[in-house]
Amino acid sequence: MKKLAILTSGGDAPGMNAAIRGAVRAALFENYEIIGILDGYKGLYNNEYIRLSHRSVAEKLNHGGTFLGTSRFDLFKNDANVIRAAENIKGLGIECLIVIGGEGSYLGAYSLYKHGVKVVCLPGTIDNDIASTKYTIGFDTAVNTVVEAIDKIKDSSNSHNRCSIVEVMGRNCGDIALKAGISTGAEAIITKKSEFSCDAIVEAVKEGNNLHKRNTIIVITENICNVLDLAQYVEKETNIETRAQILGYIQRGGVPSAMDRYIGSGLGAKAISLIKDNQTNICLGTNGFEFYYTPIEEAIKATKPHNNYVDYLKLVLK
Ligand code: F6P
Repeated sequence: MKKLAILTSGGDAPGMNAAIRGAVRAALFENYEIIGILDGYKGLYNNEYIRLSHRSVAEKLNHGGTFLGTSRFDLFKNDANVIRAAENIKGLGIECLIVIGGEGSYLGAYSLYKHGVKVVCLPGTIDNDIASTKYTIGFDTAVNTVVEAIDKIKDSSNSHNRCSIVEVMGRNCGDIALKAGISTGAEAIITKKSEFSCDAIVEAVKEGNNLHKRNTIIVITENICNVLDLAQYVEKETNIETRAQILGYIQRGGVPSAMDRYIGSGLGAKAISLIKDNQTNICLGTNGFEFYYTPIEEAIKATKPHNNYVDYLKLVLK
């Protein structure tokens, strides 16, 4: 019987369990044996794995996180460690390794592929920062979590006549801020260092105040500025009470949305049908409904196109 392996790597994302389940159920249906590598590339390096059965993925679909565990394994940046992991894969008689993760995990998979391991990558990260797919597993749930949090912050902000600056995750990608900001009627959405200006934010807050708004919401992607300092500056310049809120890890957890369960399941099963057709060394993608793939060499180099229409929305909807 042919053997496959699956792992989750990098930041956990809601819907990863659905993807593991989708792959396991489809693999067993197609008569493959499938093992789960524990804790991402760290487990691959240490040869730590479990056998996966129909039952080992039962009751996982509606749970956040990843039951296989995950890690950020810096040792994988060293080629000698990648070679050791590739040897483990070959030693286990694995035909193909399925990797669920974000950008860093794709780079790890690419290194393994360079050392002769067949790989299939599935986009799993809340950041939505992978160019070879429209949606990553976990993004939709994270956006919904952020929207729920901002709605609550708005209730309080509105009661106190305050401005609230909300920092969201995304690493270098502004998709969470954009989608959540537009969905909550934010007065300003900042997603890049290049578009960040303290004075433009001050102007946005003053503009809101002139329109007699009782609250102003500013949504900003992480790693752009210190939001606590920014809140102090805005308060000093506008005389409007301003608070900063860093949403943090609540964005990674929680019950996966229907969208993330669906795309996780679909991507997991699609990986198996492609492996069965001898299509490997690819990165899978989805538009939220259908599933497609890009060769890994191309996917690694791809960049996300800029969405001009969102710029228009930011301008007219504030
Ligand atoms: O990639 C997902 C993510 O949550 C990013 O949005 C964030 O920058 C990062 O992971 C945080 O990483 P860590 O879990 O290592 O703190």
